[in-house]
Amino acid sequence: MPSSQPAQQAAGTSHRPTIRAAVRSEYGGPEVVEVRDVPTPTPGRRQVLLRVVAAGVDRGQVHMMTGTPSVMRLATGLRRPRRTGLGLEVAGVVEAVGPDVTGLVVGDAVYGAATSSFAELAVADPRKIARVPTGVDLVRVAALPVSGLTALQALRDVARVKAGQRVLVIGASGGVGSYAVQLAAAMGCDVVGVCSAAKADLVRSLGASEVVAYDEQELPADGAFDVVLDIAGGRPVAELRKAVRPAGTLVLVGDETGSTVTGNLGRQIRASLASLVARRGPRVRMFVSSTRRADLEELAGYVERGQVRPTLERTFPLEETATALAHVHEGRVRGKVVVEMPKES
Ligand SMILES: NC(=O)c1ccc[n+]([C@@H]2O[C@H](COP(=O)([O-])OP(=O)(O)OC[C@H]3O[C@@H](n4cnc5c(N)ncnc54)[C@H](OP(=O)(O)O)[C@@H]3O)[C@@H](O)[C@H]2O)c1
Repeated sequence: MPSSQPAQQAAGTSHRPTIRAAVRSEYGGPEVVEVRDVPTPTPGRRQVLLRVVAAGVDRGQVHMMTGTPSVMRLATGLRRPRRTGLGLEVAGVVEAVGPDVTGLVVGDAVYGAATSSFAELAVADPRKIARVPTGVDLVRVAALPVSGLTALQALRDVARVKAGQRVLVIGASGGVGSYAVQLAAAMGCDVVGVCSAAKADLVRSLGASEVVAYDEQELPADGAFDVVLDIAGGRPVAELRKAVRPAGTLVLVGDETGSTVTGNLGRQIRASLASLVARRGPRVRMFVSSTRRADLEELAGYVERGQVRPTLERTFPLEETATALAHVHEGRVRGKVVVEMPKES
């Protein structure tokens, strides 16, 4: 029988009717994003309310802001965004717990995904958050969840990498790539990273044995890699396949070069289908990551063992969320940036 208990709330919570949050009412560039007072969100029976300490800025939030590729508007609102808030990655502290939630209590420090996390308070599904890795502060942890899980799932579930394999990470200096390099190295692979020459130092420091600067060198075409993760650049699949061993796997994670209508979806679907019917050559697979508690716990383990560090370039205060989104939009980021909430007074 459903409980009639109200949400368990943190003692001393201010119960303010409004919070500060980054919002927009139309699709567009960073100029459509403003920070203002919005009603305090209320968790449902199976949700928790988080006091957000910091929220990572992943590429997906740039897509949510611009409404491109426009095929995504079928889900997010055709003419205008249905949800005004932005932000998905989160690190924070449980502030209130819905009556049907078990395993989490007020005061737990957690990380993962929350709805509209560029805000002082945000609602989360307990299945999409986990306890934070010990020994790392919450601001750094906020740079980890969605980008880190995408890298983990691409390597572990899609490419099924094994120790001793050679892995090529294209887009190694960004959010997903910076974790893919570290995770593949932690899994015992020899990792080669592809990025601009300006970010080669970062990629080497993350554990790549070699860096290919795409603005100075050609992509390897010697069929020497067991796994290629294509995270940026949108190169023709035929070109990418030349880097992969016949029994290897090419994983199409994403890129920003596709059409404004379908993005990289068409290229990914065509290449995956062609690979499924082909009798020879490397497997080509697309995939969409998902936020799961068990995977967040696994990722936290890598961090606690010192095998993965959050690749935090810098933080922006909540009031400068639009600038943080612009920084990611322009491709200037080295690893990740994070939006930090004002400290509680
Ligand atoms: N499939 C999924 O579930 C999933 C999940 C998350 C993200 N994604 C997608 O994956 C893509 C990457 O996301 P992200 O968060 O890692 O983005 P990001 O932080 O912008 O990183 C992309 C990196 O690629 C590098 N790059 C740009 N052009 C390149 C080229 N021609 N060759 C090699 N590297 C290049 C950029 O740096 P430099 O060129 O300056 O070195 C940048 O650091 C996006 O399209 C995103 O939407 C997909």
